[in-house]
Amino acid sequence: TPKTCIFDLDGVVVDTAKYHFQAWRRLAEFVGVAFTHEDNDNLKGVGRMESLDYILAKSPRLFSNKERLALADQKNDDYKELIKGINAAELLPGVSDTFTWLREEGWKIGLASASRNAPQVIKSLGVEGVFDYVADAGKILNGKPAPDIFLDVARALNSAPTDAIGVEDAVAGVTAIKAAGMIAVGIGDPALLHEADVVMPTPEGLIECFKLMQAKA
Ligand code: BG6
Ligand code: MG
Repeated sequence: TPKTCIFDLDGVVVDTAKYHFQAWRRLAEFVGVAFTHEDNDNLKGVGRMESLDYILAKSPRLFSNKERLALADQKNDDYKELIKGINAAELLPGVSDTFTWLREEGWKIGLASASRNAPQVIKSLGVEGVFDYVADAGKILNGKPAPDIFLDVARALNSAPTDAIGVEDAVAGVTAIKAAGMIAVGIGDPALLHEADVVMPTPEGLIECFKLMQAKA
């Protein structure tokens, strides 16, 4: 029976995916390359330096390590400016009720975010107390689509991967959940997230989905 729920953060718990998008697009403009919505979909869930390198690969120029680090900082400064004022009002619809329901039903709740800003974001949202474990993105060897971060959370929560459900808005994230041997719930476009076991447009349907899974198990 699934009794562990592992959440992605950006685009699942809170609508910060749009801020990452804005900051990356600004960075792309700064180095003179295009940044499309398709690029953005490819970068969801992908770590900061990997995302930067994806964008820089579109440029004919070569960038030194020093330049890369400066550009990554520039994007992150932009991003931090964009999320400065976020609060619980930016939790996605259904998230708060889902946390309450999971707690009442005795589930464990983990966070598997690739973002190094995750601890600050959950604090701003006032939900840091909800999580039994928050993965440290800086300590995960292989980023999404590798399963490492989801396996790290399951291990920390003493949960078998087969007893865990992962919730993701990113293609790379859904791939990571499936590679970890977990049930994947996608939030977003079913055509894009076709690897997921279930896809819903927003987290509003999560409680019903978990109830069905509990009943079936
Ligand atoms: C993921 C986001 O959660 O974290 C990506 O989906 C982001 O858009 C990545 O690039 C890394 O975040 P940060 O905050 O460490 O730069
Ligand atoms: Mg995400």
